[in-house]
Amino acid sequence: MNDVIDVSKFNQIIFFTGAGMSAESGVPTYRGEGGIWDEYKWENYACQNAFERDPKGVLAFHELRRIEALKCTPHRGHQYISRLQQCYNHIWIVTQNIDGMHQRAGSENIIELHGSLWRIRCDQEGKIMEDLKQGSYRAQECNCGTWLRPDIIWFQDMLNDKVVSKANDIISSCDLFISIGTSGVVWPAAGYPKMAKDNGAYCIEINPEETELTYYFDKTIRLPASTGLRDLFGFEDEI
Ligand code: APR
Repeated sequence: MNDVIDVSKFNQIIFFTGAGMSAESGVPTYRGEGGIWDEYKWENYACQNAFERDPKGVLAFHELRRIEALKCTPHRGHQYISRLQQCYNHIWIVTQNIDGMHQRAGSENIIELHGSLWRIRCDQEGKIMEDLKQGSYRAQECNCGTWLRPDIIWFQDMLNDKVVSKANDIISSCDLFISIGTSGVVWPAAGYPKMAKDNGAYCIEINPEETELTYYFDKTIRLPASTGLRDLFGFEDEI
């Protein structure tokens, strides 16, 4: 395959993104030096048990994540993907990120596997509400008196069936799969490169580091997300 991808030659393209996609915007990754799970124990902040024990503490942790995300802006890698989506309608993003950075870059067709920092829900009433643009949540308790819960897939949670089924459908029918900035250790996302490969997709990994998933890729680009995307799609400008 030529070094520069001709988007029009593919029927369905998936950008599969993880925390490394947002890292260049300044959003910390989860693992490795300076990672969120280095500083905070997920058992205290990112699971249903922690929420039941200490809802205020868990909500404060997520408000901090929102404040940090709002300090960051999408980088040119996000913009490149968004620009490709404006020209072609067969491009999807499947992301593990909860920071909403792809949306802020103007992207559409986004599947958020792990939920979003920008939604909150009442499990008592089964309501999900958007809560955008500010660090603190508009309300921490529902009118019914229940603590509102970030609409995020935490450790030990099941993923949303409909979201997983949509992701499986489009990944198993794509012919180009580009993984960007994920360590590939969290399931079911860790199984997606193999799924794409087994169904005949050409698979590319953009990550400065080798990962658990590297074996499945036809091509690996050991660069940061923005530079890797620029080179892969032949963008010449610096957005
Ligand atoms: N460009 C591309 N990749 C990068 C960059 C960059 N500029 N900087 C770091 N990376 C890579 C790292 O080499 C690493 O492989 O991003 C990856 C980040 O890995 P993780 O922190 O483990 O993030 P992720 O794979 O998205 O985690 C998956 O784990 O804790 C849960 O729910 C959380 O969605 C998260 C999931």
